[in-house]
Amino acid sequence: MTILVTGGAGFIGGNFVLDWLAGFDEPVVNVDKLTYAGNLDTLKALEGDTRHVFVRADIGDREVIGRLLAEHKPRAVINFAAESHVDRSIHGPGDFIQTNVVGTFNLLESVRAYWNDLSADEKAAFRFLHVSTDEVYGTLEANDPPFSETNTYEPNSPYSASKAASDHLVRAWHHTYGLPVLTTNCSNNYGPYHFPEKLIPLVILNALNGKPLPIYGDGQQIRDWLYVKDHCSAIRRVLEAGKVGETYNVGGWNEKANLDVVKTICGLLDELQPRADGQGYAEQITYVTDRPGHDRRYAIDARKLERELGWKPAETFESGIRKTVEWYLTNQAWVQNVTSGAYREWVSTQYGA
Ligand code: NAD
Ligand code: TYD
Repeated sequence: MTILVTGGAGFIGGNFVLDWLAGFDEPVVNVDKLTYAGNLDTLKALEGDTRHVFVRADIGDREVIGRLLAEHKPRAVINFAAESHVDRSIHGPGDFIQTNVVGTFNLLESVRAYWNDLSADEKAAFRFLHVSTDEVYGTLEANDPPFSETNTYEPNSPYSASKAASDHLVRAWHHTYGLPVLTTNCSNNYGPYHFPEKLIPLVILNALNGKPLPIYGDGQQIRDWLYVKDHCSAIRRVLEAGKVGETYNVGGWNEKANLDVVKTICGLLDELQPRADGQGYAEQITYVTDRPGHDRRYAIDARKLERELGWKPAETFESGIRKTVEWYLTNQAWVQNVTSGAYREWVSTQYGA
């Protein structure tokens, strides 16, 4: 048996592929376009491993995807591929519509054609697992209960709107064509191989490089953080035992204000790699203009996943963030490779020279 993963050179997909092959012998076909966010360096440990087949392709390329499905006959497709950064979606929403909406549509059509030709048993066993986000639910007030699977979709950014659209397509392909789909809506991830445009890796690297630690607005926006390997274990569990057509919220009950996250990182760096001048890294905190339309609070109610499938995260925020800071300190070569010209260009677009 084989699984096909899209976006497996990105942050979460890369962690998923590494963890999958560390735990099982089932081969993975990994389809990734290698945008600025895709890095083959993340998959270096798999060089020469015949269980991993990497193919550079767009999820929207029906010819290539159709050929790969026919050739490898996967029992499941897990769709991680997406444009994933809210700030980039504000600067240029076009790529988000193209990959997240049109790309997912084309992928669903390729998969539907493949699935239609399977035997009855293979059809029943097949799964299309779509990896989505809690951002489709919009924003919460301070005292609102966390998002459950029955919350209405109220996306506020071009990113979350494009993900919401893709979730709707996946749902419709199940209801209309019977495609056996599963959808997961996860909160903010952090951990190894996270591209340093997102808050946590950006702050770690800027701190070490003596640069400002940019806090949007008042820094009191709340995100619900989940260690990436816990997200990967949740996806494996949903793939294994999730009920076809259902959606599962994934989160670790770790609501934190951005300013507190940044201060926690500063404290860990003060302990693990203190500044040469004896000052704390928190000195580098700088308040910058807020993100337009910035969602105030996300929080996930993950009780359905725990109740129905028995999933629980292994890490607390404290244990996961320590592992993450330690990983960045010991993996400077990966960091050097991803912080290429394209990355520097983005930093000057977003934060000015
Ligand atoms: P990422 O940006 O790090 O990686 C995305 C990967 O998809 C990259 O390797 C990129 O090259 C690839 N890709 C982009 N467009 C493609 C296309 N048209 N065809 C093929 N490959 C393409 O993103 P991530 O943080 O790893 O997120 C993975 C998925 O999880 C996304 O669908 C995202 O919406 C979702 N998600 C992310 C988070 C988070 O906190 N990062 C939380 C919940 C859900
Ligand atoms: P981010 O990592 O971009 O994830 P998302 O927007 O998907 O939640 O941002 C996490 C939070 O951190 C979000 O509230 C925006 C904020 N943020 C900053 O304050 N400064 C920054 O430089 C970045 C990148 C994000």
